[in-house]
Amino acid sequence: MRKKIVAGNWKMNKNLQEGIALAQELNEVLTADKPNCGVVICTPFIHLAKVAELVDHSIINVGAENCADKEKGAYTGEVSAEMVKSTGCEYVILGHSERREYYHETPEILKAKVDLALANGLKILFCIGESLEQREANEQEAVCKAELEGSVFHLSAEQFANIVIAYEPIWAIGTGKTATADQAEEIHAYIRKCVADKYGAQVAEDTTILYGGSCKASNAPELFAKPDIDGGLIGGASLKAADFKGIIDAFK
Ligand code: 13P
Repeated sequence: MRKKIVAGNWKMNKNLQEGIALAQELNEVLTADKPNCGVVICTPFIHLAKVAELVDHSIINVGAENCADKEKGAYTGEVSAEMVKSTGCEYVILGHSERREYYHETPEILKAKVDLALANGLKILFCIGESLEQREANEQEAVCKAELEGSVFHLSAEQFANIVIAYEPIWAIGTGKTATADQAEEIHAYIRKCVADKYGAQVAEDTTILYGGSCKASNAPELFAKPDIDGGLIGGASLKAADFKGIIDAFK
């Protein structure tokens, strides 16, 4: 059975003290009332070591929001996959549309990041998804397939077992506009078919595919009830413990 996961992406929010307080609160709340799914919190680099130290990793895993496309050396300001791993965290988000768009991360750059993350023992939350313009031109399937082919389909099946796919339609991110459960299910099923075509039915069956984009406690139950939606990647609603817990409880 593939793993159900609710993952938070804090993005560029929370100073160190606020982030520690949020992680502590989540840890307390989820220790008292254990989740029925995997929970991951992805934080800015500065929080990672502290947060990884304070959470119970049998309940909450921790992830970075990015890592460098180079192994080590003279790359001022960059943080390598090895450094991320050394904080005690388990995951890294790669391919987020905000990084593709604002920081010009190409499929080739992402492929290098994917390889380095895996070489350093990190699991990857790999984001794909179309823009509004592409959705209106009915190109969502082609876009998702190309993003997978460009950065993760060179992996062996064994390596691919460490990839969680997050489908995040750009038009639904931070806009309050969620894909309907049927719209999301349709493309999730297509993404699973792409994985099956590449790696076979069993690998596809075992691959966790998350939905992201204005997901909140009120719409999570309907989304997560769909057969090919295995949880969510949550932005805004991961910034308050009660909101995030409300989404996690969709699996209860
Ligand atoms: P929102 O939940 O704020 O729409 O963000 C989704 C997202 O981009 C998660 O990576």
